[in-house]
Amino acid sequence: MGLYGEHVLPRIVNVACGLKGAAPLRRRVCEGLEGEVVEIGFGSGLNVPFYPATVTRVAAIEPADTGWRLAAKRLNATSVPVERSGMDGQSLPFADNSFDSALSTWTMCTIPDVAAALAELRRVLKPGGTLHFVEHGLAPDEGVRRWQHRLEPMQKRVFGGCHLTRPVVQLLTGAGFTITDLDEFYEEGAPKIMGADSLGTAVSP
Ligand SMILES: C[S@@+](CC[C@H](N)C(=O)[O-])C[C@H]1O[C@@H](n2cnc3c(N)ncnc32)[C@H](O)[C@@H]1O
Repeated sequence: MGLYGEHVLPRIVNVACGLKGAAPLRRRVCEGLEGEVVEIGFGSGLNVPFYPATVTRVAAIEPADTGWRLAAKRLNATSVPVERSGMDGQSLPFADNSFDSALSTWTMCTIPDVAAALAELRRVLKPGGTLHFVEHGLAPDEGVRRWQHRLEPMQKRVFGGCHLTRPVVQLLTGAGFTITDLDEFYEEGAPKIMGADSLGTAVSP
């Protein structure tokens, strides 16, 4: 990870993803998390204030040291034990069937091999364990999709590999998850190309 990816980008993400409009979505996606949780793409810990009391421990997976450092204030303010447990969602350092729940917020766009990361989540979730997700991806409207395809190369360069056109639901079902709850919408205040969100839960059978 270069200087930009390690020092600058995590600060941009901390501000952009920390905008107030995201808070209600974070609250919704964290509802129902329970027990031992693995969060991939932990970033600067913007979900920490929304962990419900039913969460007993969180294993945070995040490659950027700066992101982890920016999380300090939120980590000090929570009673939920959170440990930085790994750097790469594509290869999780846990035994099979270790977690009750998993959390991913605006991260499936960025992980290079997202299919590998989803396969890893399937492996480490207990049977019946639930993945909670809110992700931006391929828009439902053809006009928006055209712009997403045009601008994706630039988006990837500027935002650390962030894709605009990943089909979130298709990726989840392709990985063997069963979607149990799904809301698809354009995020208020975000450009449509970056704000075609899927929010929901998926069970690992
Ligand atoms: C757009 S940010 C979202 C951060 C956070 N989830 C949030 O909602 O604020 C994407 C995050 O994915 C992380 N990331 C990139 N590659 C990753 C990988 N291979 N495994 C896990 N996380 C990764 C980035 O460092 C970044 O923190």
